[in-house]
Order: sequence, then structure tokens, then C-alpha cells
Amino acid sequence: MCGIVGYVGYRDALGIVVDALRRMEYRGYDSAGVAILDGTGGLTVERKAGRLANLEAELAESGAAVFAGSTGMGHTRWATHGAPTDRNAHPHRDLSGKVAVVHNGIIENFAPLRRELEEAGVELRSDTDTEVTVHLVARAYAVGPTAGDFAASALSVLRRLEGAFTLVFTHADHPDQIVAARRSTPLVVGVGRGEMFIASDVTAFIEHTRDAIELGQDQAVVITADGYRVTDFAGSEAGARTRPFTIDWDLAAAEKGGHDYFMLKEIEEQPAGVADTLIGHFSHDRDGGRIVLDEQRLTDQELREIDKVFVVACGSSYHAGLLAKYAIEHWTRLPVEVELASEFRYRDPVLDRSTLVVAISQSGETADTLEAVRHAKEQKARVLAICNTNGAQIPRESDAVLYTRTGPEIGVASTKAFLAQVTANYLLGLALAQARGTKYPDEVAREFAELEAMPKLVARVLETAPQVRAIARELAQVRTVLFLGRHVGYPVALEGALKLKELAYIHAEGFAAGELKHGPIALIEDGLPVIVVMPSPKGRTVLHSKLLSNIREIQARGARTIVIAEEGDETVRPFADHLIEIPAAPTLFQPLLSTIPLQVFAAEVAQTRGYDIDKPRNLAKSVTVE
Ligand code: F6R
Repeated sequence: MCGIVGYVGYRDALGIVVDALRRMEYRGYDSAGVAILDGTGGLTVERKAGRLANLEAELAESGAAVFAGSTGMGHTRWATHGAPTDRNAHPHRDLSGKVAVVHNGIIENFAPLRRELEEAGVELRSDTDTEVTVHLVARAYAVGPTAGDFAASALSVLRRLEGAFTLVFTHADHPDQIVAARRSTPLVVGVGRGEMFIASDVTAFIEHTRDAIELGQDQAVVITADGYRVTDFAGSEAGARTRPFTIDWDLAAAEKGGHDYFMLKEIEEQPAGVADTLIGHFSHDRDGGRIVLDEQRLTDQELREIDKVFVVACGSSYHAGLLAKYAIEHWTRLPVEVELASEFRYRDPVLDRSTLVVAISQSGETADTLEAVRHAKEQKARVLAICNTNGAQIPRESDAVLYTRTGPEIGVASTKAFLAQVTANYLLGLALAQARGTKYPDEVAREFAELEAMPKLVARVLETAPQVRAIARELAQVRTVLFLGRHVGYPVALEGALKLKELAYIHAEGFAAGELKHGPIALIEDGLPVIVVMPSPKGRTVLHSKLLSNIREIQARGARTIVIAEEGDETVRPFADHLIEIPAAPTLFQPLLSTIPLQVFAAEVAQTRGYDIDKPRNLAKSVTVE
């Protein structure tokens, strides 16, 4: 959601804060702002609606001298409460102008707090839920038991807040420190030499330090240039356990690597993402070998006791979840239900100790998925997270974790994380099959070997990009595109449609091809582009011939067919206006290949229409509110 950074040290804070915001802009780009403390009781704030570039222009106009100081913080906003305007942009200040706050999340009880302040004569100047916090801290600092103690004042306010938040406070009279806290939204501390950072994610300070500390739930931290102190909201150090870690991503991984957009770089990183997600997950032995999960806090016995699997996720991660069903049911004979996390927790799903809930989330922060995990745990189900972000909230609250190791995904639309999630699903399916004995060790080893061969095939599919881009440019101005698939091609069709919608703002729908005659075929008209994901002609031939009939049906009604099919599948050629050939692969693994042309297609259509493919309108990378 929003991106937050704070710095206390010896260097020019403004430069460090603005650079950090640039790297975190993917978290929200409705507005941006900075607050710099000059060290002698002055606090200067600048904030601007729209992209960071607007703020930078404003800062340039004011001149750097106005913002001299070695303590500061910044914010890049994805609006929740209050329109994306200058007045709602963070940082917000108290009436004296000495205290400032930036916030990510939602203060759920802001309405009574706002009333309390208004009754006390405080005039609020924004429509946000955030602003109440800064006035409350200022009042706690002015009078009462915490008067004059900045950190204690902030803690006293944190104890009153409900909701999900990362909050960062500065006080002009305490320029040597920043107070920050988190509940259910992320906050990491970067430990430098003579300087300290806090941020929503490590990309903000990776350039300056690799040593980081992750704050736990309901923890606060006071950073100074020389150190940090972590407590709970009561101010007690006891029990405020933290997790120090070393960041193994380099700065280049978080930058565009020569591409115009992160998303294009991330599409190209997919062979490595699939390969890295597999690394270390298979240990060879005399019988064949074993799949090994990452943080396995579930025993084989517990995995054997499972009699049902629920997969919960949102968006692209949900589509990855749909694919998990095909593999897990096929390999383990366990029933698998896949559900949108936002729906799951509001019905009454039947769960108990023998249910495994698999929560798939790139960010590990998505509020709907996190709440689904919590609901599952309340019902005593076991939870396994598939996540791309080390130590994020969802894996922390789960019983076991399988990390997708594809590096930071900056483009808002998921690409490499999706492929890595699909890969992780296969690992999970095989781990379950091995624990439950539905596959012999040598069969698990054979499947794993096939999986290990996939990154090379993924790389070969990337070679189709120029052809796909040419088709995309030809179709860039159409109003609607339909996507069809069967079996594992169906979730791929859904994912292709989602990519096109979110990047190119074109109406797109994915259908199970078998449903065509039950309604969607009425949409087919002359020239309508339909992208079809064909199954292999070798595997389940019945599926192939059924889909071939579907293509005939739509072509006869005037559709323009763009067909993704296995190399050498000549049967399909007469019915394809455009044929994109991908290498042969085992049926269950084909989505790792067939998804890629759809990603490239959506990106190119969007670029041709002149859109920013890293930051599609109205979207944010991680959705930490429901
Ligand atoms: C689409 C996309 C989103 C995310 C969804 C879940 O390209 O990126 O649909 O997949 O918001 O996010 P995570 O995986 O972080 O829980």
C-alpha cells in the first residue's frame, strides 16, 4: 500500500528520503511527501498529489537549502481515507507544526478519536484517518503523564489505536530520533554505521546497508543515528523480539536492469525465478529423494492427517491457486478447494485440524489473505504460506512456508511471482504426495527432474516475444479480448485476461472453453480477438480435440483467433489467424510456458496505448486493506 521511509544520521536526509521514495513508489503513487528536521527546532514539510515527480519539481523550486537536515521521513501514498489531494498527502502535522506523521494502513477507530479532538477544539485539516494520530501525540506531549517525553507520548497514542498501521512520528524538538510502530503492516529497520533507517521494505535502504531488522506485530522502535530500541506498545523491551537478517538482494535486482519498465525485466527474469524457487528443495537419497519445504513447522505425520486442502489468495495469486488444484488433486487424491480470500473468511468454510489451508501471496501482506489465514487458524486448520517476501506477516502467522525466490517484484502487475507461485505449488503437491505415500520416491524424483527442466523451456518461450509484440501492436486499439482455455489452460486464460484488464484497461474475459456454448459464444462477432490456450495434442487428446472444435466454432462466427499451441501441432494451424508456438511440456507444467505470451501481449498493448505498465491506474502493489 503506502511506502514509508525514515532516516536519522549524518548525511543530507532529503536526498536519501527522496531516493528511497523513488524505489518504493510502486507501493502507491497517489501523492508523495517529505518532512525534514533541521536539528534546531525546525521542521519543513512538502507534499504533493500525484506522482513523486510532482513532489520533486516542488522541492527543486523551493531549493535544497530549505530542506537542510540529517533527520527526515517520506511517504508515497495509495489513498484509502480521503481523496488523493495535496491536503490529504502525508506527512501530516499537528497545529504547532512541530510533530509530523506518515502512515500506511487504516486507523479503524479514527471517527471517535476525531470527535474527541474536535470537541477539544482541534481543527483537523485533512479527510484522512491518519491526521488524528499526530494531534493526539502532540497533546500527549503537551500535558499529562507523558508530557515532554516524545517516545512515551507516541506509545500512549499507539495503545489507543485500532486497525492496521505502520506509523512514523518525528518531533522538531527531538531531531535526533524517530519513533515508528507497526501492527499488521510492514516495517523494517536498516542498521547502518552512524545512521539508521526505517522503511516499508528494504529496497528503500538497500543501497546504504544490508543489515536489517524486522519488527514484530505490535512493536515500536525508536531510532537514533547510533542505534535503535524496540519495545511493545507498553514500552517494555521484554518480549519485543526482533528478527535481524541480512538482505541478499542487490540494488541492481531492485532496479530496472536496462529496461524501460520493471515489468519487462521481471518477465525476462522468469527462467531464473522458476529455477531459484526449486533450488534446495530436493534432497537426493538412495530411493530417489525427498522434497524439502522451507520453514517446515508441520511434520510428515501432520501432513498425512490432512483430508482436505483449501487454497486462498487474491488476483493473480488466486489464479496460481487454481492451478494448484490440478496438481495436488492429481498427485495426492486429496480434495482441493480454491477460493478468493475475500470470500473465504466471510462465509462459513468447513475447516478443522485435518484441513490444510494454503495461502498464496507475493507480498505476504495482502489483508484479505492475511485475514483468511487468521480465520483458518481460529478454526484450528493448518496453514502453509507460499510467499515471495521473507518474514512478511502471512508466513509469520503460518505453520509452514514455501518461499518463491524470484527477488523483489516491483511492477504492480504480477509476472515472475506468478510463475514462481505456480512452481511452488508443484513442490507442495509433491511434498504432500510423498508424505502421504501417493507417489513413490522415484516418481517424486522424476517429476522434480521434469520441473528442473522447465526454466530452459521458459527461456525458449521468451523468444516468442517479438512475434507476440507484433500481434499486440496490431490489436492494440480493440475494445474487447476474450481468452479461452480448458483444464490447466483455463486459469491461464483467466490470468491473461486479468493482465490485459489491469495494464491496458481493455475489457477482457477468460472462459473455460467448455462454457462457450452456455453463453459467452453470443459475444463473438466479426473481428473479435480471441486468444486460445491449446493443450498438448499428445497428452489428453480428448481435451485437444474438444478445444479444436471450439476454435472452429468461434472462427466460423468471425473471431480473430490467436492460438498458443505446442510446437509441431499442425492440426491447429488452419484455424489460427496467429499461431504462437511454445515447447512441449508435461501437461501440468504447461502453464509455466503458456502464461508468458499473455504477459508480453498485455504489456505491449498497454505500452502501445501509452500507459505506464509498472503503475497501472488505481492499483497498488500490495493491498493491505480489505
Ligand atoms: C495482478 C496482481 C494482483 C495480485 C493480488 C494479490 O497482476 O498482481 O492481482 O496478485 O493483489 O497480491 P499478493 O500476491 O501480494 O497477495
